Amino acid sequence: MSTATTALTITPSTHPASEAERAARMTNPGFGRVFTDHMVVIPYRNGAWQTGELKAYGPLSLDPASSVLHYGQAIFEGFKAYHQKDGGLATFRPEANGERFNQSAARLAMPALPVDLFVQAADELIRMEKNWVPTAIGESLYLRPLMIATEAALGVRPSNEYQFILFASPSGAYFPKGVKPVTVWISEDYVRAAPGGTGFAKCAGNYAASLVAQAQAAEQGCDQVVWLDAVTRNCIEEMGGMNMFFVYQEGGKTTLVTPRLTGTLLPGVTRRSLLELAKDLGFEAEERTITVDEWKDAVATGRMTEAFACGTAAVITPIGQVKSKRGDWTIHHNESGPITMKLREAMLNLQHGVSADTHGWMHKVL
Ligand code: COI
Repeated sequence: MSTATTALTITPSTHPASEAERAARMTNPGFGRVFTDHMVVIPYRNGAWQTGELKAYGPLSLDPASSVLHYGQAIFEGFKAYHQKDGGLATFRPEANGERFNQSAARLAMPALPVDLFVQAADELIRMEKNWVPTAIGESLYLRPLMIATEAALGVRPSNEYQFILFASPSGAYFPKGVKPVTVWISEDYVRAAPGGTGFAKCAGNYAASLVAQAQAAEQGCDQVVWLDAVTRNCIEEMGGMNMFFVYQEGGKTTLVTPRLTGTLLPGVTRRSLLELAKDLGFEAEERTITVDEWKDAVATGRMTEAFACGTAAVITPIGQVKSKRGDWTIHHNESGPITMKLREAMLNLQHGVSADTHGWMHKVL
C-alpha cells in the first residue's frame, strides 16, 4: 500500500531483508557493497520535479538512448547518517551536500533540486531504514544521492528529463587498511581538472577520468594518486577523490594547511568542517597554494610532521609515504600522527553526538 507525504509517495518493499539476513549483511560491511531495502526516485519532466516515490531498492529501467549513457550528465553526492549517543539518528550537514549538488547540477546544465527536498528525501529514507544504521563509532549509513539525464534523444544538448535517485549503504572503513597510512603516487602524466572545467563539480566524468591514473599509482605500488594543477603541474590539489591537509609544527604552533579552492578542486564538506574544527582545537588553519617542492622540503626539514586526506567516505586518512618522479619521502615514520588522529576523533565524536555540536552541523532525523 502507498501513502503520500508532502513530496514523496511511500510504497514499502514487499521483500525486505529478514532480521537475520540484515544482521549478516551488516557484519563487516566495508564500503559500498551492501544496500538497504528501499530507495527514492524523483522524476523531472516538463520543466518541474514531479512527485517522487520511496520504494523497494532495485534496478532502474533506462532507454538505451537516455542521454546520460552518451553525454554523461550525471552527478552525485555522499553524506552519512550516524547513530547518536542518545540513541537517535542524525546526518552531518546534509544541506551543504544539497547545495553542492546544485552547484554540480548547474555546471552540467542540469536542473537544481530544492535543498529542502534533498534533505527531506534523505530523512524519509533514513527513517524507513533505521535498522540499517550501524551503531559502532566510525560506522554509518552512507547516503548516495545522484541525478542522471533520462531523455531518450541523441542530439548533444541538455536533456529535458532527469531522475533524482537516493539510496543507502551501511558502511564501515572506506579503505581496506582502515586508518593505516596510505602511500601516494604524484601523477605527472594525468590531470584531474583544468581551469574552466568540472573540477569543482561532483560529476561522474571526473571519477571516470581518474581511474587510469589510479591504475598507474597502483603499478607504482601506491594506494592512491595525488593530483597536481593542470597549468603549472607543480601545485598539489587532491588525493584520489579526497581533499588534502598538511600539518606544520613550528615554534610551538601547529598549523593545518589545505590547498585553496581554485575552481579545479572539489569543495569538500569534510574539508570545510575541518578548517573550523582545527581552530576549535587550538590549531591555526590556512587555505593556500602548496607545491610538490614545498611538501618534500618541509618534510625533510621537519617543519611538516603529518599529512592526511579527508572526505565523507573515509573521514580522515593519514598519508605515510609519497612516491614521485621527483623523489620519494616518508612522513611521520609512515605511522598515523597525533594531530591527524586527534582531528579524526573530534570529527567522529561530533558526528556520533558524543561531543557537543557547537556549530549546529548535526541534523536530527530520529
Ligand atoms: C569521499 O571521500 O567521500 C568521496 O567522495 C569518495 C566517494 C567517491 C566514494
